[in-house]
Amino acid sequence: MTADRVTFTYPGADRPALSEVSATVGRGEVVALVGENGSGKTTLAKLLAGLYHPDSGTIRWDGTDLTAIHGDALRRRISVIAQDHTRWPLTVRENIVMGRPLDEERLAHAAAAAGADRVIGELDQGYDALLDRRFRGGHDLSGGQWQRIAAARGFYRDATLVIFDEPTSALDARAEHALFERIRRHADGRTVILITHRLASVRFADRIYVLDHGRVAEHGTHAELLRNGGLYADLYELQASAYQNPPRSSQNPADQNIPQEAL
Ligand SMILES: Nc1ncnc2c1ncn2[C@@H]1O[C@H](COP(=O)(O)OP(=O)(O)OP(=O)(O)O)[C@@H](O)[C@H]1O
Ligand SMILES: [Mg+2]
Repeated sequence: MTADRVTFTYPGADRPALSEVSATVGRGEVVALVGENGSGKTTLAKLLAGLYHPDSGTIRWDGTDLTAIHGDALRRRISVIAQDHTRWPLTVRENIVMGRPLDEERLAHAAAAAGADRVIGELDQGYDALLDRRFRGGHDLSGGQWQRIAAARGFYRDATLVIFDEPTSALDARAEHALFERIRRHADGRTVILITHRLASVRFADRIYVLDHGRVAEHGTHAELLRNGGLYADLYELQASAYQNPPRSSQNPADQNIPQEAL
């Protein structure tokens, strides 16, 4: 899949969300899109998935211009776990299967892959639990629990391309690690576009595109980008330093107003 000098402006916007963006996503690869808020990551993923059409430039899948591929055929091949994933007022099972033929084994597999199995296990009615608090007997889930259900939806679909748009923003550390591990194993041979701000988790990606104000600032592997010393290296160092250099005051109890006998 390739984007060739793609430019896209949202209706009514005064400047393009993407300008002359070129990118390549190989079959079976995990390609990460990173960059600051508003840099164009979600927009690029939606263009690559054929959800929006570029104003200029082309998106090709296996050499075929995306505009020539029928919408239904495209939708069958793509699974998008959107940043603002939908919380359907339906049962857990319906939320994951979402219009696809039901296959219980596949369902269990997808739930486990997304870490949703633990959430479902704690619901009295399991897969039959209604996720709608407005009704008697309905349940609501926490943000992170919903995110696991949304990820399970993504794994359930038999798509060749899976787009994970910040799939772990609400997940706890353990669930986040587990989900990235699963994506790392190429989600069972599928092509993955992964959008995340957690740079420690994109090190394994086959290729990383760094977006800045709607343009590709740089691209390469994690090691290449660190060597470049550009935007990616800056953002990565910033995140890494948050873990490596705790403030001095927290290293030295004497600097804090904590009674010694409490330590
Ligand atoms: N539906 C929309 N209508 C108009 N402008 C939009 C729309 N969605 C996004 N934009 C604009 O397009 C630009 C790119 O947005 P996009 O959502 O692709 O950024 P992003 O990199 O995914 O950001 P974030 O990290 O916050 O998710 C931004 O300037 C944003 O304001
Ligand atoms: Mg986004």
